[in-house]
Amino acid sequence: MADRNTPHLVGSISRKFLLCLFTVTTFFFIFSWFFVFRSTGHPHFIDHSLLPNSKLFSVIENNDSSQTLYDNDIQLSSLHNPSYKVDGREVDPQENPGVICKSSKVPLKVFMYDMPPEFHFALLDWKAQGDSVWPDIKTKIPDYPGGLNLQHSIEYWLTLDLLSSSFRGQNSGSSAVRVLNSSEADVIFVPYFSSLSYNRHSKVKPPEKMSQNKMLQEKLVRYLTSQEEWKRSGGRDHVVMAHHPNSMLDARVKLWPAMFILSDFGRYPPTVANVEKDVIAPYKHVIRTFVHDLSGFEDRPTLLYFQGAIYRKDGGVIRQELFYLLKDEENIHFSFGSVQGDGIRKATQGMQSSKFCLNIAGDTPSSNRLFDAIASHCVPVIISDEIELPYEDVLNYSEFCIFIRTSDALKEKFIIKLIRSIGKEEWTRMWNKLKEIERFFEFRYPSHEDDAVQMIWQAVARKVPAVKLKIHKSQRFARSEVNRERRASTVPWFRYLW
Ligand SMILES: *[C@@H]1O[C@H](CO)[C@@H](O)[C@H](O)[C@H]1NC(C)=O
Ligand SMILES: *[C@@H]1O[C@H](CO)[C@@H](O)[C@H](O)[C@H]1NC(C)=O
Ligand SMILES: *[C@@H]1O[C@H](CO)[C@@H](O)[C@H](O)[C@H]1NC(C)=O
Repeated sequence: MADRNTPHLVGSISRKFLLCLFTVTTFFFIFSWFFVFRSTGHPHFIDHSLLPNSKLFSVIENNDSSQTLYDNDIQLSSLHNPSYKVDGREVDPQENPGVICKSSKVPLKVFMYDMPPEFHFALLDWKAQGDSVWPDIKTKIPDYPGGLNLQHSIEYWLTLDLLSSSFRGQNSGSSAVRVLNSSEADVIFVPYFSSLSYNRHSKVKPPEKMSQNKMLQEKLVRYLTSQEEWKRSGGRDHVVMAHHPNSMLDARVKLWPAMFILSDFGRYPPTVANVEKDVIAPYKHVIRTFVHDLSGFEDRPTLLYFQGAIYRKDGGVIRQELFYLLKDEENIHFSFGSVQGDGIRKATQGMQSSKFCLNIAGDTPSSNRLFDAIASHCVPVIISDEIELPYEDVLNYSEFCIFIRTSDALKEKFIIKLIRSIGKEEWTRMWNKLKEIERFFEFRYPSHEDDAVQMIWQAVARKVPAVKLKIHKSQRFARSEVNRERRASTVPWFRYLW
């Protein structure tokens, strides 16, 4: 207004007029800001900025999410509670209430996209009826192909677990429930059977120029990035399964803000996947679980067992070097060849009659051999410097595994001296431990408490606070961005007065 002239006017105009001018100006000021706020279109804006107890409002608004965070904290602290060991010991709920509630009290809330069947069950040759995208698993569950495909079948078990969420009852003790409203979800689950797609369709079939697996990944990226849920979080709260190390070679660089479920990080650049953001899941073992195992130290004649493919590239070179170091030792089984067909029977027998089972890095840091060893209660000897292990934040693998650095393992007699130094007592302690923890690695439908499916959900749940932190941080300036856009398009008439 006429501010610049004010000094000249002071002398001649009465105080009354000045007061009046001041009042009018103030009125206009407040009035116009009111409109500016309204023009942001954010319904909570006025409440937050103009009401004296705006803090109270934000607390009420965040009641739900802070509640979830709080409960996750409890979950976490109970898992780290020294009196609670994830070791299968029965814990009296009266004695230790926090422990029992660790997963059943507040299950992870999961929203699952109703994606077209070509992304999931159609890959299992299931045909959709009518416009339903999911099989009616109450009547019949489509089969997953057997053999080595099964190693990476976590996609199948997790999806089935979510589908059964609607009818299995509230008190099933499950660690995850499916919610139909994505705004209420902790995470958004992407039911894409990536490992199966890779295993079945990664070959280019002429006349096509691109494999079906690659096309499906392109479709997946288009599908996801166009969803409201993805845009809302930038994908950060999405859970994408990519257990086969090659399963997402194309899509992963576009989907990296999401949480991946992987077998290891061997073929991933750390910017795309890392242990902070992602979850490592076990392979499904191909060797049958050793039930009623009474085969103790003396009943296992083979000291050290290894069966695996030879790799001549990457980390695999050491397999051959170890073979030459160990081949002349007593009570050692060391042979090359993959475990399939009759091989499974032989490997089962071999592992169940061995005290220690070698796990050597192959062309990737992880392999299902470790989980075969656990199922056989054969103490794993892990020689793989880059290996990441499932649920290692709550599970102390040193209690039932021997870790040896590659550089040490290649020293003359190092391995053999080390494992010969482990006596019956120590070995038996590890063997008992293996029998306690093996259930964490069992994939099943219906899923049971603390099996692999539930353990993976719990691992995802432990990432949720970090995901929320990232999302909230990324949205800090969302309001001013919206504001800037709106101001540019709809400038209120009275702003021209200033
Ligand atoms: C807020 O959280 C409490 C539990 O702390 C719950 O009883 C209440 O219903 C919640 N209120 C809203 C509005 O969500
Ligand atoms: C989904 O949940 C949000 C937040 O709780 C709520 O505002 C919205 O109305 C819900 N949508 C539906 C379709 O129920
Ligand atoms: C893990 O287990 C090993 C072997 O039993 C033990 O020495 C170590 O103290 C354990 N670590 C923790 C944090 O309990």
